[in-house]
Amino acid sequence: MTVGVRRALFVSFALTLVGSAGACSDAAPLPASRPLELDADRELSAGEGTIFDTTRNAFAYPLRNLSGPHRDTFALGDHFFNRSWVPAGMPSTSDNVGLGPTFVATSCSACHFKDGRGAPPEGNEAFVSLLVRLSIPGEDAHGGPADEPSYGGQLNPSGVPGVPGEGTPRVAYVDEPGTYGDGTSYVLRRPVYTFEGLAFGPLAANALYSPRVAPGTYGLGLLEAVDESTIVALADPDDKDGDGISGRPNYVWDARKNAKGLGRFGWKANKATIEQQTAGAFLGDIGATSSLNPREDCPLVQAQCRAAKTGRDGAPDLGDKTLDAVTVYGLTIAVPARRDVADPTVERGERLFFSSGCANCHSPKMVTGDYPGYPEMSRQTIRPFSDMLLHDMGLGLADGRPDYLATGSEWRTPPLWGIGLVKTVNRHERFLHDGRARGFDEAILWHDGEAKPSREAFRTMPATDRGALVRFLGSL
Ligand code: HEC
Ligand code: HEC
Repeated sequence: MTVGVRRALFVSFALTLVGSAGACSDAAPLPASRPLELDADRELSAGEGTIFDTTRNAFAYPLRNLSGPHRDTFALGDHFFNRSWVPAGMPSTSDNVGLGPTFVATSCSACHFKDGRGAPPEGNEAFVSLLVRLSIPGEDAHGGPADEPSYGGQLNPSGVPGVPGEGTPRVAYVDEPGTYGDGTSYVLRRPVYTFEGLAFGPLAANALYSPRVAPGTYGLGLLEAVDESTIVALADPDDKDGDGISGRPNYVWDARKNAKGLGRFGWKANKATIEQQTAGAFLGDIGATSSLNPREDCPLVQAQCRAAKTGRDGAPDLGDKTLDAVTVYGLTIAVPARRDVADPTVERGERLFFSSGCANCHSPKMVTGDYPGYPEMSRQTIRPFSDMLLHDMGLGLADGRPDYLATGSEWRTPPLWGIGLVKTVNRHERFLHDGRARGFDEAILWHDGEAKPSREAFRTMPATDRGALVRFLGSL
């Protein structure tokens, strides 16, 4: 059975110009751009924590300045990040018990391969590193998305023995042709999703879904170490400066604070901290409970899931030591240095990046605050190329699924550091939240909404300038 789900769109979308692939040139004038900064040490993406490696392991090192004791915890966390988990009740001599009852993958690294990013499946391959979040309109008790009644917050295709998987997502692509300003044509591909073999009946008629590819997991502690005030200072929700760009922070449930906190992680800035993202991934993607998420995610209709054996004699699947180690690991992975920064073409591309307004959202530089217990991550000049804020990217990229304050067409500016090494580490160049873009050009051509003038600047550039801008992205 194939069930198509219609996207719920929002009234505000009607105000956004349709036609994201951008064949027309009706864009607003280019906003005033951030001043160009060509610092002498601009290759140091992660300050003193920057590592110098251009191999397949470039995303897998600890911060260069990480202290000895933190390195030990990093190594332990690395081990748990890469290992496969097994269902409760299976003979295991080890502490890797806690898979399921339903799950997407058996290890973190299945999706974040070598701490890099995932990609959508090719043909009829299974969905692994592209997962599908689900909800219905409305909010949960903490202002987050309301679970789809029969399937919960995401679709888990697999189950442990005796527990059915929830269903199989499929993606196909529709071509969307467009033309550069110089007449050269291009073809973007728009994903279309369907769901097969749904084990508990069709999705709710008003179900909303959001396919999201696994992002890289490097440099994240430095982003957590940036003071909230630094990020909020970049926001301009009412576009008071009139540059057409109105980034705003997401505020999400912070289970540690038992209150709302700034959202930093996930494609919609929908998680407050690496610890909560880690605990959430253990529960949602692998099925392992922890003290932060003590209950399995089994919707009422899923009887086998609810009856399945879980936990360790009443305790959660994961001990706190395991969760802590994986959290420290996620906090302390380094970012590789830029390459070829002084190459004239790369430098030309960097100038174009600023003059095209890209840097208005992909904010080049930040200084971290004081991160308790981690002098290594404190007061570092970092170059993430992100403002960590939500932006309306138009209808073409919209998932129509709100996530706390993020609307269906808003996404967090993803950091661009390290993006030039994705090809080396992950052997693909699939970009954007659902991996639809096949390379940097397509990623830029999908930009719309607040980023439309920027995209138009790129689309109408001479081919040599487009090439230089892409070379610059490759140097990050
Ligand atoms: C099934 C694939 C999958 C598995 C398994 C998985 N992740 Fe993820 N991960 C994702 C996706 C997709 C996102 C983006 C989530 C979102 O936008 O809501 C993500 C986001 C993250 C982020 C935030 C990255 C950022 O830039 O915001 C961290 C950290 C992370 N995962 C760590 C982990 C850890 C630790 C594990 C193992 C416990 C894990 N993940 C398992 C797919 C996966
Ligand atoms: C209004 C803010 C904004 C502007 C301006 C902007 N971007 Fe983006 N950019 C984003 C957001 C938000 C995303 C994520 C969209 C998504 O995944 O659906 C993104 C995604 C990207 C990606 C893919 C990143 C990834 O991890 O997959 C690249 C590459 C990129 N932008 C480059 C550029 C370039 C080059 C320019 C200038 C021509 C530019 N952007 C202008 C906000 C912006």
